Amino acid sequence: MNKLLLISMALLFLSCNKKNESYTDVENENKPLDTINHNGKKLMETHCYVCHSPTAKENEGRIAPPMIAVKSRYLMEYDLKEDFVNAIVAFAENPNKDDAMMHGALKKFGVMPKQVFPENIVAQIADFMYDYQIEEPTWFKEHWEGHGNDNWTQPGKKVVVVEKQKTYEEIGLEYALSTKKLLGQNLMGTIQKKGTLEALAFCNIQAMPLTDSMSLKYSATIKRVSDKNRNSNNKANAEELVYLSQFKKDITDKKESKPVVVDNGDKVQFYYPIPTNTMCLQCHGKTENIKPEVLKKIKALYPADLAIGYGENEVRGIWSITFNK
Ligand code: HEC
Ligand code: HEC
Repeated sequence: MNKLLLISMALLFLSCNKKNESYTDVENENKPLDTINHNGKKLMETHCYVCHSPTAKENEGRIAPPMIAVKSRYLMEYDLKEDFVNAIVAFAENPNKDDAMMHGALKKFGVMPKQVFPENIVAQIADFMYDYQIEEPTWFKEHWEGHGNDNWTQPGKKVVVVEKQKTYEEIGLEYALSTKKLLGQNLMGTIQKKGTLEALAFCNIQAMPLTDSMSLKYSATIKRVSDKNRNSNNKANAEELVYLSQFKKDITDKKESKPVVVDNGDKVQFYYPIPTNTMCLQCHGKTENIKPEVLKKIKALYPADLAIGYGENEVRGIWSITFNK
C-alpha cells in the first residue's frame, strides 16, 4: 500500500471521528450539556418519566403520552418560551380536564394525577424541553407527521450526554426510579384498564415479586418501607424511620429531598422518599375518600393495615436500597 493511500485513509478516519463530535449544542459548540449545566434534563427524568417515558411501548406499560408529544402539542399553541413554560407549569400545578389540550391522551389515560412538585422544578423542566431536543420514541416522527406536520424535526438544540462514572447517589436513584417506574406503570395501567379493585388485587399479588425482580436485575436489595405499612414485610426499621422523618420535614419546609447515601464498608445504603399523589389516595387516602368496596377488600387482605389516612404530597414510605460498592 502506498503512503498517500495510507494518509488519505487516516484522514478519512479522522473526518469520520469529527462527525461524531457534531452532536454538540449548536449554540455552544464543543460545550456539551453537562458543561452548560442545565438541571432540567435530570429533573424531567426524575419527576416526569415515571409516566411520560419515551421508551414505554403501546399496550405495554404506556400510561401517559411521551414527553415529546406534550412538547409538540404545547409548541403548536405557544411559540414563545415564556408562554410555553407558563402553560406547562400551570397544567402541572392543577391538572384538570377543562384545561387539558391532549384530548386523545385524556381519553386513553385519564387526566394526569395531581402531584406536588417542589418549587421551580417544573419551570426548569419546561425550560429544558423548549431549548433542547428531548428523547423521541422511534414511532413518534411518523405519528406526528401523520397529524399533518410534514417533514417534522424536533425543534431545539441537540444534547450530548457525556458518559461519566456514576456516583453512588446516581446508582441508588437509578434503581429506585426504575423500580418506581415498573410498579407505577403496572399500577396505573391496571387502574386505567380494569379499575381500582382489580389494581388492589394486583398490588397484593405483584408488588413484592416485581420489586424483587428489580433486586435480582441489579444484584441489590430493593425495598419499600413505611412507618405506616400495609404489608408487614414493609415495616421500617429504626434507621429507616430517622430518614423517613427527615424526608417528611423536607416537605413541610418545601425543600426538594436529596437522596441519602450511607457508606457501610463494602456496601452502600441508599434512601429516597416515596410521596403520594392524588392517584394513591384511591387506596391510601382517608377512609371517606376510598370506595367502600375497595376499603372492604383492603381490610380483608390486610387486617392490620396502617397505610390509610394519607393526603396528597405526604411521605407514604421510602426506598431503602442496599448494594455492593
Ligand atoms: C403519575 C403519572 C404522571 C406523572 C408522574 C406526570 N404526568 Fe403529566 N400526564 C399524565 C397523563 C396520564 C397525561 C395525559 C392526560 C392529560 O392530558 O391530563 C399527562 C399529561 C401532561 C400534560 C399535557 C396536558 C394536556 O392535556 O394539555 C402536561 C403538560 C404534563 N403532563 C406535564 C407533566 C410534567 C411536566 C411532569 C413532570 C414534572 C409530569 N407531567 C408528570 C401523567 C403523569
Ligand atoms: C389500587 C390500590 C393502590 C394504589 C392506587 C396505590 N397503592 Fe400502594 N399499596 C397497595 C397495596 C395493596 C400494598 C401492599 C402491597 C404488598 O402486599 O406487597 C401497597 C403498598 C405500598 C407501599 C409499601 C409499604 C407498605 O405500606 O406495605 C408503598 C410505599 C406504597 N404502596 C406507595 C404507594 C404510592 C406512593 C401510591 C401512589 C403513587 C400507591 N401506593 C398507590 C395498594 C395501592
